[in-house]
Amino acid sequence: MAFNKRTKIKDLLEKDYTGQEITVMGWVRTKRSNKNVSFIALNDGSSIKNYQIVADPNEISEDILKKATTGACLKIKGVVVASQGAGQQTELAAKEVTVLGEADAEKYPLQPKKHSLEFLREIAHLRIRTNTFGAVFRVRHALAFAVHKYFNDKGFFYIHTPIITASDAEGAGETFKVTTFDLKNPPLTEEGKIDFKQDFFERETNLTVSGQLEGELAAMGLGEIYTFGPTFRAENSNTTRHLAEFWMIEPEMAFYDAEDNQNLAEDFLKYVINYALENCKDDLEFLDKRAAEEENTKKADQRSEMGLLERLQFVVTNEFQRLTYTEAIDILRNSNHNKKKKFQYLVEAWGVDLQSEHERYLVEKHFKKPVILTDYPKEIKAFYMRQNEDDKTVAAMDILFPGIGEIVGGSQREERLDKLTQRMEEMDIPTEEMWWYLDTRKFGTTPHAGFGLGFERLVQFVTGMGNIRDVIAFPRTPGHAEF
Ligand code: 4AD
Ligand code: MG
Repeated sequence: MAFNKRTKIKDLLEKDYTGQEITVMGWVRTKRSNKNVSFIALNDGSSIKNYQIVADPNEISEDILKKATTGACLKIKGVVVASQGAGQQTELAAKEVTVLGEADAEKYPLQPKKHSLEFLREIAHLRIRTNTFGAVFRVRHALAFAVHKYFNDKGFFYIHTPIITASDAEGAGETFKVTTFDLKNPPLTEEGKIDFKQDFFERETNLTVSGQLEGELAAMGLGEIYTFGPTFRAENSNTTRHLAEFWMIEPEMAFYDAEDNQNLAEDFLKYVINYALENCKDDLEFLDKRAAEEENTKKADQRSEMGLLERLQFVVTNEFQRLTYTEAIDILRNSNHNKKKKFQYLVEAWGVDLQSEHERYLVEKHFKKPVILTDYPKEIKAFYMRQNEDDKTVAAMDILFPGIGEIVGGSQREERLDKLTQRMEEMDIPTEEMWWYLDTRKFGTTPHAGFGLGFERLVQFVTGMGNIRDVIAFPRTPGHAEF
C-alpha cells in the first residue's frame, strides 16, 4: 500500500476539510499537555504555519504521546474539526498517532527557544526545520522558479554551460583547480613544471567562475539565452556577501546595447522580487518581523530606514538611479563622508575601484534607491567589455542594492575583433587558447550584451538575511565544507 496518503498542512490551511478524515505527517514543533488533552503543533515544511493536533489521552496512549517530543516525526490520522482556540480555523482531532521517528529530548539540538544564526550554521543539517530557514528556502525556491519563468516567458533559452573549464573568464585568477593527478607526485616536464598534457583533460582545468563566455557563443546562434548554474571562486574573502560556491544567473543577448542591457536587468529584478511578494506572503511577513527584531539590536545610526516588505515594495515601484562611474566619483569625492574621512578608503583620484562602503554610501545615503553604475575605467574591468569612444572607459554596468552593494555585474561586449584582440594582448589573455571566443567576432559578429546576477545576494535582499551563509543550504566558505 502506498505510504504517502497525506494531506499537506498548506492545503489544510487553505481549503475547508471540516468533517473529513485525513492523515498528516510532519515534525513536532511543540507539545502542551494537561490532564485532559495534549496539543501538538505540527510542521511539515509546506508552510511556515503549524497545524494543531488535539490528542485525547482516552484515544491515544500515554506511551505514544510521551514520544511526541519536539523534533519527533509523526503520522496522524484524525478528523478535521472547528478549532476552539484562537489562531487557527480548524484542528485535527487525532484518532491514530504513529511515531515515525523519535527525537530524544535530551539530545535534540533544536529546542523551541530562539537559537542564534551562528549556532544554527553549525547544525546546517537541522536548521532547515526552523521557521527562519524554512521561510528562507521556500522564498529561495520561489525566486529560482521566477527566474526561469521570466526568461521562458520572454523567449530566452536556458543553456547549461560547463562547470569544468580551461578558462578564467573574469581573469582574476581565483579558480579552484581540477585534476586527477596524484598531488604528491604529479608528472613533470623537462623544465620541471607540472605536465598538464598528461592530466585527464590534457590541459590545465578549473571550476568555472562564470558561464558568460560560453553563454555568448550560444547567444550568437539562439539570440537570447540565460544560464543559471553553480559558480566557484577561490577568493579568500570572509565577508557576509561572498561564497566560494554560489549560483549565478547570466543572460546574454544578441542585438542588445548597453542601454537595452540595463533595461532588461531592471525589469528582471523587479519581476522576480514582485513574484516573491505575491507568492510568499506568509514567509515574507515572518521574515519582515524577524528582520525588524534584528534591526532593533543595532545602534540607531546603523538601522535601515525601511522595513523588509517596505523596501521590497519600494524597489519594485521606483526607477533605479542610473549614472556613470565618473559622476559617482564626483559625488563620493565631494561628500561630507569623504571630507570628514569617514570612509576607510578615501576617494581621491578618478580610476580607483569602488569599495563596498562607497557603493553602499551611494545607494543608502545619497540616492536611497537601487543604482545602476555605468562606464567604468577599463583598467578595473574585464577584457570582454566594450570600449567606449573616450578610450578610457568601457560599457560596463554594476547594479547596487541597499544593504547588499553589488548584486549585478554586466556589460555590452566588445564585438569588434581588432579592439578585442588588442585588449586581450594588453591584459595578457592568451588569444590562441581563446580562438573559439574570437571566432564569434570573426564570423557574423553583432552588438551583444549580458549580465550576471548573484543568486544568493538576491535571496539575501528579498529575505533580509544579513549573512550570505544563511541563504544557501550548505555554504562553502574559507575553512567550511562540512555537510
Ligand atoms: O561581477 P561578476 O564577477 O561578473 C561576472 O562574473 C560576469 N561574467 C557576469 C556577466 O556579465 N555575465 O559577478 C556577477 C555577480 C556579482 O554582481 C555578485 O552578485 C555575484 O555575481 N558574485 C558573488 N556572489 C557570491 N559570492 C561571491 N564570491 C560572488 N562573486 C560574485
Ligand atoms: Mg562585479
